[in-house]
Amino acid sequence: MTQLANKHILLGVTGSIAAYKAADLVRRLREAGAEVRVVMTEGAGEFVTPMTFQAVSGHPVHQDLLDADAEAAMGHIELARWADAIIVAPASADFLARLAQGRASDLLSTVCLAAERPLAVAPAMNTHMWTNPATVDNVRSLQQRGILLIGPDEGEQACGDVGAGRMSPPEQIVTRLADLFSTGSLTGKTVLITAGPTREAIDPVRYLSNHSSGKMGFSLAEAAVEAGARVILVSGPVNLAAPAHVERLEVISAQQMAAAVASRIDEADIFIATAAVADYRPSRARPEKIKKDQSHLTLELEKNPDILAGVKQQHPGVFCVGFAAETTDLERYARAKLEAKQLEMVVANQVGPAATDTDGTFGSETNALQVFWPGGEAHLPLASKAQLARQLIPVIVSRYEQRDRTAAGKGKIVKLNQASRPKI
Ligand SMILES: Cc1cc2nc3c(=O)[nH]c(=O)nc-3n(C[C@H](O)[C@H](O)[C@H](O)COP(=O)(O)O)c2cc1C
Repeated sequence: MTQLANKHILLGVTGSIAAYKAADLVRRLREAGAEVRVVMTEGAGEFVTPMTFQAVSGHPVHQDLLDADAEAAMGHIELARWADAIIVAPASADFLARLAQGRASDLLSTVCLAAERPLAVAPAMNTHMWTNPATVDNVRSLQQRGILLIGPDEGEQACGDVGAGRMSPPEQIVTRLADLFSTGSLTGKTVLITAGPTREAIDPVRYLSNHSSGKMGFSLAEAAVEAGARVILVSGPVNLAAPAHVERLEVISAQQMAAAVASRIDEADIFIATAAVADYRPSRARPEKIKKDQSHLTLELEKNPDILAGVKQQHPGVFCVGFAAETTDLERYARAKLEAKQLEMVVANQVGPAATDTDGTFGSETNALQVFWPGGEAHLPLASKAQLARQLIPVIVSRYEQRDRTAAGKGKIVKLNQASRPKI
């Protein structure tokens, strides 16, 4: 269930006899790799204790809307922003009514109202409550607004009645949630991604490199897999595990990275170059460790291959996305790169002291991105790199599909056939 790996899932638990099943749901979500925070209604607290959810989620449970401490840390807006998806399970009849009315009368309903993320509900109630026209109307209205309805199942109920109203089993809820993250927009496509830094050997123990952590590239690899792509990830030396279902090629130097890309570019529909490839390498890597007996040491550097420019020149049919980390004049440099290398898209981010909305370092968990393409742009505000990757993939897909449509309209063949592509 890779789609849920590293996802932030906010679980709302309401006052239903099925509330105890939500503890198993938390466990299964975490097994699938998700990070889970729990919001309980007052009613839920009559059925299960917050301690249960704190123990299974590993985080304090959120209960009160008007809580000065929570506002300073994880208040309703913070929670709404934190979540990649919200699931209310079990969802009581009363909660469905509050949601349908757009109430913000308790923490959970307020978070649901404030969130712009996918929202799912797994109702659980007596079968006559479920079939009551009031509930039927509420549920219809929620579905019309795009809220995902999971269940309920039919069967014998806690009260002895038989019929629809039982909460769906936690494993089914996890599967339906995972489906939310499988867009399928890249099904049948192959995405080649470079990530991380490169190391350029000075001698057997020293090298030139940079602070790239590889997190953005790895997050994009994961998001592309979620979107249905086959993903090949060419990674410099980083301390990250490859996301599931990603084919990882490990390299050290820029020349190795260029060779690895060249060996696989024939398979790619989309090439995303997030790696911070060293521009220069020592002209001669010394075979033995350099001794410190000289007061000055001069290293001669020579230029490394420009991997992205090479791909675009020799494989014009591949949709190429470049990354630009700049300390100043972000837009000007990003647009210049777009133009000079004839790329389809450049994703730019500010680094260094001018990066006011991040900590300005390569390795940070968060980032804010500006995306430029010929004639357009998009801004993705500060978020975790995993969240940004999931926002960026649809932007890339939309431009990729538009290019195909335009080319089809002009009768151009966009993708070179495999055999006719020259090697870079
Ligand atoms: C023993 C008991 C069991 C209940 N089970 C359910 C239930 O399964 N589903 C439901 O919608 N309401 C059920 N209710 C009613 C809700 O707890 C009540 O409507 C409550 O106000 C819901 O609050 P909440 O939605 O804020 O959690 C039950 C009430 C009691 C006393």
